[in-house]
Amino acid sequence: MRLQGKRALVTGAAGALGSVIAAELAAEGADVAGLDLDADGLERVGAAVRAHGRRWHAATPDLTDATAVQAAVDGLLAQWGGIDVLLNGAGGGAVSWFHEMTPQTWNTQIERNLTTVFNVTRAVLPAMLAQRDGRIINIASVAAVSGGRLVRGATAYAAAKAGVIGLTKALAIEVADQGVTVNALAPGAQATPGRDRDTPERRAALLDQIPTRALGRPEHLARTVVFLAAPESVNTTGVVLPLDGGHSI
Ligand SMILES: NC(=O)c1ccc[n+]([C@@H]2O[C@H](COP(=O)([O-])OP(=O)(O)OC[C@H]3O[C@@H](n4cnc5c(N)ncnc54)[C@H](O)[C@@H]3O)[C@@H](O)[C@H]2O)c1
Repeated sequence: MRLQGKRALVTGAAGALGSVIAAELAAEGADVAGLDLDADGLERVGAAVRAHGRRWHAATPDLTDATAVQAAVDGLLAQWGGIDVLLNGAGGGAVSWFHEMTPQTWNTQIERNLTTVFNVTRAVLPAMLAQRDGRIINIASVAAVSGGRLVRGATAYAAAKAGVIGLTKALAIEVADQGVTVNALAPGAQATPGRDRDTPERRAALLDQIPTRALGRPEHLARTVVFLAAPESVNTTGVVLPLDGGHSI
């Protein structure tokens, strides 16, 4: 119960990683709010959070829409009075070769993976600054660190996630003396349901790139989120933590 009494907001909460993180935060005693476009998925996550005896709140704004995000966060703040932990997990990649990429594909990737982080953090930060306490955890990607060697055709995604890392470090400095920490995770390939579609050849090629020869496990990633969300991590800010089995060494 390292997060007893904490109020956590998870974006992408209906997703493969977000759903596991939301349940783990609740297991550690936090109330959890989920933002995601997927209303059915949020319902399933809400059931898991409630099963831990914690409060659950859900909303389905498009996180690329700053006005919709502000309204959703204001609605949550009106009910809960504050937010202690923000996990920016919404996002996702799309393969597109650079020489074929349209401006629309580029913009969509930047909006999905970087503008969403800006919109939600911008809406949540004033409440954290007012209470002089907060934990912001952004999910970037190893693609931002190693240029997308695990998945070719990821220039827009890698650029957006590198933007998340830049935002993380710059904001960490900006708010460091106000009780708010800002950190990022840089996961490599995780054992999410999407990976079940890998052909044996694709899986072997992937594992050849990972020194541990294993995919990351979402439940382990969720434990790292708990660590960064906990009060005792107050001295850790501006960090980009790889969870990639050594891929980025
Ligand atoms: N799964 C991996 O191996 C891996 C590796 C590195 C980084 N990541 C990152 O981790 C995060 C979560 O990945 P995942 O595997 O759980 O993906 P996922 O696709 O399962 O979940 C992402 C969730 O974000 C939501 N979302 C996306 N855009 C949105 C928008 N505009 N508004 C509201 N909701 C939106 C989707 O509805 C979805 O539920 C992503 O940022 C991803 O880039 C994942």
